[in-house]
Amino acid sequence: MCGIVGYLGMKQAAPMLVSGLKRLEYRGYDSFGIATIGSSLVSAKKCGRISESDGYAASLEGRMGIGHTRWATHGVPNDVNSHPHLDCTGSIAIVHNGIIENYSVLRRHLEGRGHHFASETDTEVIVHIIEEYYTGDLLEAVKKTLPHLEGSYAILAIAENDPRIIAAREASPLVLGIGDGEWFAASDMTPLLDYTQQVVFLEDGDIAALSPDGICVFHEGVEVSRSAERIEWDIEAAKKGGFAHFMLKEIFEQPKVFYDSVSAAIDPATIRAIQDAGGLMVVACGTSYHAALIFRYLIEQLCQIPVRVELASEFKYFTPPMQDLVIAVTQSGETADTIAALKMAKAHNCGTLGITNVLGSSVTRVADHIVYTQAGPEISVAATKSFIAQIAVFLNLINNLCDRQYDEVLHTVHQAIETVLLEDISVAAEYCKRAHDIFFIGRGVMYPAALEGALKMKEITYIHAEGYAAGELKHGPFSLLSPETPVVALCTPGDSYAVMLSNIKEVKARGAPVIGIGREGDRELAEVADVMISVPPTHPLTDIVTTSVVLQLLAYHTANALGRDIDKPRNLAKSVTVE
Ligand code: G6P
Repeated sequence: MCGIVGYLGMKQAAPMLVSGLKRLEYRGYDSFGIATIGSSLVSAKKCGRISESDGYAASLEGRMGIGHTRWATHGVPNDVNSHPHLDCTGSIAIVHNGIIENYSVLRRHLEGRGHHFASETDTEVIVHIIEEYYTGDLLEAVKKTLPHLEGSYAILAIAENDPRIIAAREASPLVLGIGDGEWFAASDMTPLLDYTQQVVFLEDGDIAALSPDGICVFHEGVEVSRSAERIEWDIEAAKKGGFAHFMLKEIFEQPKVFYDSVSAAIDPATIRAIQDAGGLMVVACGTSYHAALIFRYLIEQLCQIPVRVELASEFKYFTPPMQDLVIAVTQSGETADTIAALKMAKAHNCGTLGITNVLGSSVTRVADHIVYTQAGPEISVAATKSFIAQIAVFLNLINNLCDRQYDEVLHTVHQAIETVLLEDISVAAEYCKRAHDIFFIGRGVMYPAALEGALKMKEITYIHAEGYAAGELKHGPFSLLSPETPVVALCTPGDSYAVMLSNIKEVKARGAPVIGIGREGDRELAEVADVMISVPPTHPLTDIVTTSVVLQLLAYHTANALGRDIDKPRNLAKSVTVE
């Protein structure tokens, strides 16, 4: 959720921290702050986005420091609740991502001992406990503090008179970067890519000390070695490259992303684990959940393997009967609910498979098997290329399960995506722009595509949108249809084509305009729809991908026409590391 960053080296830390926080802003962007140590500890923090107000923060003195960009959980977004938080003496500062569940008990205890709290946050208790233990050795003080904390954290701490940044993680991501005479720490690797490709992923329970002499990592009181890994992600991939928004750039990267993800070799042991499983269950949240629903339709139809798909956020409290193999789908690899569900599955002795985009992320530490999507860094909060990459990985798995009989068709899909990217969406976007509500309807595998189309639309345009199984619209939502309620109908050829056309006519008869998405040359659909957007006439397996890309473009162009903050929609965050 929140993003944290630390720098220690020969350069001035503040500008490095500010640039790192700008890269991490997608994790949360309601306020920001940094603290540096030069001749003394100084800090600056502010409600709002760092990209809009960084002048003062960037001028702080010192060659070591820590920074934070916030997604509020405890306490409203304001200057005081922003991180870093300082101890009573103002000589220790920390930034934190995660939630301290027992903070109110700790706070009462600390207040009883005379500590003064400035903010409403859970985080502030951490720095006051460190203060209790600090006698000049920050590493020791942090080591003594952590056993008091319940919940999740990635923490960076600095103190006057200690030349180190102390980092610790428990159930929140934290990665260290090794540069040329400089050291970094961050919630993920995007801020590091400008300076180094050598990274160390910390494990839960690790405490690290970054100093001018290098990095030391401790686990359960003992110094351990954590090997550095080389990251192949290209920094250019994390820049806008001439596009108006990251979201549009990421949509346009999808031909390559699909091709790479559908072609990547999959460990035969992973395929065997699926073949040998008596039952499969997929857990996921948000857009990844919709990709999982698409997987269910495809694998049940093409391989006759039944699959349960569960929202990870429901799983912990309403646990369904376990299956032999539990698959977690998470682009970030960090979604707290998804990780918790996977850990529960392990505790029940289920096999586990993680599908993620991020090397070294939490899911890779929990799952028995891992398949990586090949999407590269995705910066826009709205998931687009990571979703298409998930579908590609699912199709890759299915192709492997079916003796590679779909090789040929899967290696043409990227060309069909290229064609779709040239579609003119402006008329359809005009209809949507004027709407208060929009329905998205589909049948079969197009039903989860409709759910995802609606999610994308509401996420970035702030227009209420709902995805529906087309046959269900008449069981309630018909009462909402009017000329101001466009219905986006996903209507490609297949068993349900004729009944979809009937559903579209029913919608039209109730006065709602219809945006039809169907195959190029489909005259019947073109006649009944008010606007038709075409996908190339290729293979039925391609339609789910091309239709999904059209829906992304529709949401993008509608949001753009409304002047929305497309890459950072209000109240959201890309990586949700709290329950
Ligand atoms: C957040 C993001 C969504 C994403 C969901 C699940 O809500 O804004 O785009 O689909 O988390 O994330 P995951 O990383 O588990 O796929």
